[in-house]
Amino acid sequence: MKKRIAVFASGFGSNLQALIDYSRSNELNGEIVLVFSNKKDAYALKRAKKSKIKAVFMDPLKYESREQYDSKIIELLVKERIDLVVLAGYMYLLGKEFVRKFKNKILNIHPALLPSFKGVHGIQDAYSYGVKITGVTVHFVDESLDSGPIILQAPCYIYSNESVAKLEEKIHQVEHKIYPKAVKYFCEDRLIIKGRKVKIIDKKRSRV
Ligand code: GRF
Repeated sequence: MKKRIAVFASGFGSNLQALIDYSRSNELNGEIVLVFSNKKDAYALKRAKKSKIKAVFMDPLKYESREQYDSKIIELLVKERIDLVVLAGYMYLLGKEFVRKFKNKILNIHPALLPSFKGVHGIQDAYSYGVKITGVTVHFVDESLDSGPIILQAPCYIYSNESVAKLEEKIHQVEHKIYPKAVKYFCEDRLIIKGRKVKIIDKKRSRV
């Protein structure tokens, strides 16, 4: 059965768009049925509406605590029978309860090669540090920041005299290639987590 996917995004939503485009032109065994945001004016919500996907905004400021906010979101996800939560530039930390409830069912994309350059400025931090290679990481979400088991990584070279804006553009291009791939693997039940390691099994074996 096709997995029901919710994408969480707070901003521009270029990764959301890459996922929508991929899901419409490739075999995915999944369908994006919900886009959720903590930001009313997130462009990601517009992208969802354009693609006729249910778009939901909930204002965190209207809830007394993060726990209350999270439990409202969980209610929504249960109602929508969501199998997979894909964080795509979602800039609001998920609470422990949420992560526990959807254990091994939440993916995130980070614009650096984890465990280096965790946090919200991954691209700039790698650039300022002077590394010659940075990249992109797709990982499962656990209860700590940018720390869950790694599914896929891809490198991105930083050439001398390259601007941080150029690097950002390159990083996004890589993101748009590898995130749909990781989602596809999840939807085909091909990701086996053993401790910190994620094994990607081949398609035939998963169907046996
Ligand atoms: C991406 O760089 C992603 O790695 C990070 O947030 C950014 C979101 O970009 N987590 P977009 O909204 O998908 O364009």
